[in-house]
Amino acid sequence: MKLRYVSYISNQAKILNEDHVENLLFQIREKNKKLAITGLLLLIQGKFIQYIEGPDEEIEKVYKKIKKDPRHNELVLLDSGFVNERQFKDWSMAYKKIDDVTVENITGYKNLELDQLFLEPNKGDKHPVLKVLYNFTKALAS
Ligand SMILES: Cc1cc2nc3c(=O)[nH]c(=O)nc-3n(C[C@H](O)[C@H](O)[C@H](O)COP(=O)(O)O)c2cc1C
Repeated sequence: MKLRYVSYISNQAKILNEDHVENLLFQIREKNKKLAITGLLLLIQGKFIQYIEGPDEEIEKVYKKIKKDPRHNELVLLDSGFVNERQFKDWSMAYKKIDDVTVENITGYKNLELDQLFLEPNKGDKHPVLKVLYNFTKALAS
């Protein structure tokens, strides 16, 4: 089976409270279990950063749905490709809310520059936000 992955960053349509996040995660996890999709969702300063991995065709379909989801907007693809094995085999969707200091420590971007960090849509797989994503990939993956 070809295992595909996609990562992207987006803006939350409105600030989510803990209940909203719980509901979203519940929906995502139920569906991902059925589709054999695994991954990680990060929340940073009103942004989502998500990494999903799974069967090529399922990732294609789900990513199309995610792009149209009104719960977020200004979605920017960060990275996409194929992997030999899953990074998150035990997580239908791991989740972490990350504060500014942690982002700063990982990327070296100071608080005031954080907006700039998120405004670098054309860097593709060199996007600084990927540093944050892969930092947590290493920490959570089993
Ligand atoms: C930030 C974010 C991440 C999402 N991640 C997933 C996901 O990993 N898997 C999934 O099936 N749906 C995910 N969704 C939900 C989809 O956009 C869509 O609502 C869901 O797949 C249900 O689609 P359906 O009812 O048409 O089948 C996500 C939505 C948001 C806003």
